Amino acid sequence: MCGIVGYIGAQQAQPILLDSLHRLEYRGYDSAGIAVVGDTLQVEKCAGKVSALEAKHPHFSGTWGIGHTRWATHGPPTDSNAHPFLDATGQFALIHNGIIENYQGLRQELVTAGVPLTSQTDSEVLVQLIARADKGDTLAAVRSVLNRVEGSYGIVVIHRGRQELVAARNQSPLVIGLSTGEQFVASDIPAMLRYTNEMVYLQDGQLARLTPSSVEISDLAGASVPLRSETITWNAEDAERGGYEHFMLKEIFEQPKAILETMLERVPDLDLGLETVRLPRRIRLVACGTAFHAAMLGKVLMEQIAGIPSEAILASEFTFSGAVGEPGLVIAISQSGETLDTLSAVREARRRGAQVVAVCNVMGSTLTRETEHVLMTRAGPEIGVAATKTFTSQLVALYLLAAYLGRRNRHLEAEQVSRLVAELRRLPRLVQGVLDNHQAIQMTAEWIASAKDAFFIGRQFNYPTALEGALKLKEISYIHAEGYAAGELKHGPIALFGKDTPVIAIVPKDETYAKMINAIRESGARGTPVIAIATEGDQEVAQVADIVIRIPESEPRLSPVLATVALQLLSYYVAKYRGCEIDKPRNLAKSVTVE
Ligand code: AGP
Repeated sequence: MCGIVGYIGAQQAQPILLDSLHRLEYRGYDSAGIAVVGDTLQVEKCAGKVSALEAKHPHFSGTWGIGHTRWATHGPPTDSNAHPFLDATGQFALIHNGIIENYQGLRQELVTAGVPLTSQTDSEVLVQLIARADKGDTLAAVRSVLNRVEGSYGIVVIHRGRQELVAARNQSPLVIGLSTGEQFVASDIPAMLRYTNEMVYLQDGQLARLTPSSVEISDLAGASVPLRSETITWNAEDAERGGYEHFMLKEIFEQPKAILETMLERVPDLDLGLETVRLPRRIRLVACGTAFHAAMLGKVLMEQIAGIPSEAILASEFTFSGAVGEPGLVIAISQSGETLDTLSAVREARRRGAQVVAVCNVMGSTLTRETEHVLMTRAGPEIGVAATKTFTSQLVALYLLAAYLGRRNRHLEAEQVSRLVAELRRLPRLVQGVLDNHQAIQMTAEWIASAKDAFFIGRQFNYPTALEGALKLKEISYIHAEGYAAGELKHGPIALFGKDTPVIAIVPKDETYAKMINAIRESGARGTPVIAIATEGDQEVAQVADIVIRIPESEPRLSPVLATVALQLLSYYVAKYRGCEIDKPRNLAKSVTVE
């Protein structure tokens, strides 16, 4: 996700653009830039936050311009990859939020035509094509290019000699702020609330031409679209959370999009950009906290889908684990890419001669810079300290990686790969199904909000899910929660069971089902209240559990994603009932940069 803004009116554009960009930095902050039309087209852009851009002291005069704060998906955060992008003749400037899926072919067309390209990004391709299509009308040129584009975009384009902004949207949000004698456009409302609360939400496939005194909307066919504005009553802080009460809840609900973006351009061909990774005979997955729970599931996926012996090791233990056997492949999982325990494990792995693949959510982070192979999750910035969308995006990335390695070492037939990918492509819609059930989960949360202890149990793919559910509950509601392999209850923990210790059992209809039902019966026999996370349509579980939270049926190895979303919501609503500080839990940090 990037933050984009545009202004056109009678005021000086630069201060408005910079102020608006600061209000969008929660959307992404690894590089920033502005372009303002004065006597010439003036551009300043750099890697770093908006403050780094301001430190360059741009003094642009001019009353219309655009600005951008980037969350890198293609190409690391560098000055040259920062937006805005100029076309080769310096007439046009463009900013973009989204991913152009067919940019490689479009880029090749420009290279063949000898157009000099200055960046590795998909966004620059757009502005070069627009300049080549221009016949004096920016809106017409933008429309003709977008009719050739596949993928997601929110763009704003300016021309040095035409007093107008041209904006367009497909899947990436873009909102127009209406005012008298000046108009605004931005990827999100907070950027403009200081200046206007009259907003027009641009829809997919729509374009807009903004002048100081007018806004016209049309579609990709050129037909005009009536202007429908809404008056926003939120304040700026509410608006940054998109109307959600907490960033964590917003990020839980962003998971269908985060999963979709993480899959984009990688399915169905499993094009992961990891051709130079040598096929390993053993894999170690290293991570901390929630990412370690992804590593635990990743171990099962690598063994079952890729057929490669694998092990999940806590990053903080890796250095002390001793170098036995061949170094093989180390998969380092970290949403921030700054967790020192994980960085230390990677440095030790490289010292031992291992290949390293990083699964990370922040391009340009230390982990991505110190690792030769990177598989980015594309969950967008995660502001809530408790990991949610980055975790499920990590699971998707590991699933893709397992299928990729399984195909490379012929552990999987082509038909099996296609089936796995087809199941994965259903996931965003299945996750939405869990989210749609949030009210039932909210009611269940009230039932356990006063507990002092809680146990999460699962088997096989959902043993890591049980651990993650327990971590989520404890870190935001401060209830003591433990995750256990369900088979372990009778070996000790059940001594603690009683009417005040709710058990949350993850019991999808898979090969572990019968044994999970036994575990639920064992728990219930001690008077323990049991909440079951179970497959839609499963009637038997309702005979043994007190409350059933339903998740859609899925490929068994994907049920952890669905169960986790339900458990995230459960923990969120428990913490809310308990009046906890959900986005910034006590004693915790979003990125643990100490050992
Ligand atoms: C999870 O909710 C916590 N925020 C924490 O356990 C986190 O997963 C862990 O610190 C690892 O962080 P990373 O993914 O940025 O490396």
